[in-house]
Amino acid sequence: MVLGFGLASLTILICVKKPHVLRESGGGEAYGCLEQGWDTQSTLTVAGLGDFFSEQLSSSPQSLEEEFTPSSVNCDQSQPEYKLVKSVPGSEDEDGLCHCIVHLSNNLIPLKQLEQLQSIAQELMDKYNQELSRETPNYSLLRLELEGARKLVDQLMAKGEVCEAENLLSQLQSQVANASLTLKLLADSDQRSLCAFRQKVDVLEGRLSECERTKRQEDSGPPLPPGSCAHRGLQKVSRPFVVQLNWRGFSHKAGVWGRDSGPNPDSSLYWVAPLSSDDRYFDSYRLYKSYDDLVLMKNYKEWTMGYGDGSGNTVYESFMYFNYYGTHDIAKVNLSSNTLVLQRPLPSATHNNRFSYAGVSWKDIDFAGDEKGLWVLYATEESKGNLVVSRLNTSNLEVEKTWHTSQFKPALSGAFMACGVLYAIRPLSTRQEEIFYAFDTTTGREHHLSILLDKMLETLHGINYSPLDHKLYVYNDGYLVYYDLSFRTLKHRPARKVSWLSTVPNPVIPNKTSRP
Ligand SMILES: *[C@@H]1O[C@H](CO)[C@@H](O)[C@H](O)[C@H]1NC(C)=O
Ligand SMILES: *[C@@H]1O[C@H](CO)[C@@H](O)[C@H](O)[C@H]1NC(C)=O
Ligand SMILES: *[C@@H]1O[C@H](CO)[C@@H](O)[C@H](O)[C@H]1NC(C)=O
Ligand SMILES: *[C@@H]1O[C@H](CO)[C@@H](O)[C@H](O)[C@H]1NC(C)=O
Ligand SMILES: *[C@@H]1O[C@H](CO)[C@@H](O)[C@H](O)[C@H]1NC(C)=O
Repeated sequence: MVLGFGLASLTILICVKKPHVLRESGGGEAYGCLEQGWDTQSTLTVAGLGDFFSEQLSSSPQSLEEEFTPSSVNCDQSQPEYKLVKSVPGSEDEDGLCHCIVHLSNNLIPLKQLEQLQSIAQELMDKYNQELSRETPNYSLLRLELEGARKLVDQLMAKGEVCEAENLLSQLQSQVANASLTLKLLADSDQRSLCAFRQKVDVLEGRLSECERTKRQEDSGPPLPPGSCAHRGLQKVSRPFVVQLNWRGFSHKAGVWGRDSGPNPDSSLYWVAPLSSDDRYFDSYRLYKSYDDLVLMKNYKEWTMGYGDGSGNTVYESFMYFNYYGTHDIAKVNLSSNTLVLQRPLPSATHNNRFSYAGVSWKDIDFAGDEKGLWVLYATEESKGNLVVSRLNTSNLEVEKTWHTSQFKPALSGAFMACGVLYAIRPLSTRQEEIFYAFDTTTGREHHLSILLDKMLETLHGINYSPLDHKLYVYNDGYLVYYDLSFRTLKHRPARKVSWLSTVPNPVIPNKTSRP
């Protein structure tokens, strides 16, 4: 005998082996499914439930509740007495199994309750997971309670055991009630304290950035116009501003984000590309048309692709450039259509984690955009792992020119380009990095510097500079963070609008008369 039940309808399906129990009633139009003369095998299989159901079925619904007391069900009873319970119409299949359906009214058995509890537990679990995926305080207690509830449900569901069901069910009920209460308390208290906390932080942040602005203006004159190179190199880096956790969650520690570093000042395309949770595979990204959309996580376009390696990606003039998975190929994707438009090898570049950065794997080939164009940072066997910079022609990805630096790439934690100058970063501690080295591609000269960079978490994965706002976009162990960069002003010369795509070493300052 097989006994199954659908929780939703509480339909009991009973199937019985033909020889033992089939009884033709009358002219063979109907079968009674249950009868005296059950073999021991089948009664034992359903000992607990059998007792239970026979009780239920043999009595009239009114009297059932008094008759059914779970403590009287005895699982060890090897020869329970079965009577003909009820005659129900059934049908026979090819294997000689009789199928018949018995409908029980809902309130007779705890299955309905079990179902409800299960769905409540599931709901709470979902809510909990949702909360957890955001940034939340301590949910350990809730987790324990829900884990307990889930185990109980599993136990109940596993074998259809009903013997100890009442006990388990009341435990489950209490546990779910506890969890529900905890969640409510957490939600209430969090909302209030979180809001208050947010407001305080907002006020403080406002004041701080005000301070920083005035200080910067005192220090370094008027701010640089977008895309301007009218300065004498990097001077300092602000504290980190945390924007948010990446949209795929905590487990996506590696990734990269930024703003289109192309020269179009009207473009405010932001992009976020958390790598898959293996910290290597670049398989999807989101595009936002504005910073506000990014912060609010709305109006985005989400693409999946499935052929990138590491977090060296950059976006330049609405195209994304990246290292093609498992190769030393560089590739270009049209972001309007998410189509691969170009793929070609980067001559002598090493790949597959041969010379990646310190603490950041699979970033052998690292793209960078700046005021002067598109660059790629990598290492070769000939360079003995030292970092090499090449300028790329964006239309065909051919290398236009290559420079060799003296820095062993795996010793750096990252690098970026600004106004044709490579800046290299090394880790100082778990909380600080240092921009310690610069290589100017216009002069071919290198020099050492020391600009400290605070970090929230240990590893800086993607690092991208945007010439439009002079910000450094950093993917810090799953968090989107940016830094404001300040540059040393030109002496006795106020910064003016410049033709910032010019390839001549020094920016051309147009004549006053040449402007309207
Ligand atoms: C979170 O709750 C657990 C269990 O109650 C406790 O051990 C832990 O100290 C709590 N953590 C914080 C940060 O309050
Ligand atoms: C529910 O909470 C009460 C009060 O804190 C506690 O006594 C009880 O053991 C909890 N029940 C379960 C199943 O955790
Ligand atoms: C990029 O894709 C868009 C949409 O399909 C298309 O209109 C545009 O011409 C493409 N650009 C290039 C350079 O392929
Ligand atoms: C890039 O390559 C294209 C196609 O070969 C060529 O027409 C263009 O002049 C190149 N751009 C630069 C800046 O050299
Ligand atoms: C600046 O103006 C002078 C005189 O009008 C002219 O000779 C010179 O070519 C101009 N330079 C630029 C960069 O326009």
